[in-house]
Amino acid sequence: MIRRLAVIGVGLIGGSLARALRGAGCVGEVVGCGRSVANLERALELGVIDRWSHDPAQAVAGADLVFVAVPLGTMGQVFGAIRDALAPDAVVTDGGSVKGSVVLDARAAFGQVPPRLVPGHPIAGTERSGVDASFPELYQGRRVILTPLAETDPRAVERVTAMWEACGADVTLMEVAHHDEILAATSHLPHMLAFGLVDALARMRENDEIFRYAAGGFRDFTRIASSDPVMWRDICIANREPLGAMLERFGDEMKDLADTIRSGDASHLLEIFARAKAARDRYVDAMTAGLETTPTRS
Ligand SMILES: NC(=O)c1ccc[n+]([C@@H]2O[C@H](COP(=O)([O-])OP(=O)(O)OC[C@H]3O[C@@H](n4cnc5c(N)ncnc54)[C@H](OP(=O)(O)O)[C@@H]3O)[C@@H](O)[C@H]2O)c1
Repeated sequence: MIRRLAVIGVGLIGGSLARALRGAGCVGEVVGCGRSVANLERALELGVIDRWSHDPAQAVAGADLVFVAVPLGTMGQVFGAIRDALAPDAVVTDGGSVKGSVVLDARAAFGQVPPRLVPGHPIAGTERSGVDASFPELYQGRRVILTPLAETDPRAVERVTAMWEACGADVTLMEVAHHDEILAATSHLPHMLAFGLVDALARMRENDEIFRYAAGGFRDFTRIASSDPVMWRDICIANREPLGAMLERFGDEMKDLADTIRSGDASHLLEIFARAKAARDRYVDAMTAGLETTPTRS
């Protein structure tokens, strides 16, 4: 049971956590924090939070659990603002999509990563933002990855695990660097492909006609290009090394595909497509509990 939950960043991820915990009857009071009055007043109106503050330090005062769900570029600023205001027993966790940068930001703000800070990442989402996009079922049956460090207090990990399980999620523990490499491949790369494709087509002279004739496959593939640009800018910067390597490798694969098509090598094409179909049929539908911005609801 959480006595007082502080949610810094009451958007899709933070708002959905508060809603899920309320639905499960696991939280007493929820205090929200953000910049825009309109979003926070809307969160009050929807019953996601009980009260709010613009000041992260005020929002975390007396909270036994703090969830930081702001864009990655803002994490360090939030950690610095809450550092001296946390209750001694407070457990802090976050929902950021990259863990290495969160650990670096925590170290810079606190001097060391506090034992009661548990870095985390719910592998769930949609391409929508803000509290209006949040819903209590977002984490049902989804994975949450926690990346505790050697210095993390195991009791804090247990508390955060119990919190996510109360939302219906399955919790996995992973090393920070491993998390960032896996997510570069499964989530960040597909988002780059969607953003890159839509941007390239939009800049072509005959773009009106291209988009007019875009069919279902194009819609499905590019839905995630509607995701928040600030959030994705921050994810790319925070995970630049693994994502850069992944994009380079993918570029080589695309070059190979272009050469194969140009040379009319039908059997190589069939080989590539059959291998991809078999892999997708075998793994993706069966094993993926959900990538970031899966069509959970939209
Ligand atoms: N969307 C996804 O699919 C997904 C999935 C997993 C993890 N994540 C991660 O979850 C985090 C939040 O993403 P989201 O999708 O929930 O974004 P979101 O819907 O835009 O919510 C972020 C919230 O943070 C607030 N915020 C921004 N800067 C702030 C600041 N300086 N101080 C306090 N509040 C601030 C914003 O409110 P104001 O503008 O009013 O300040 C907004 O309500 C990100 O780190 C992202 O990487 C996202």
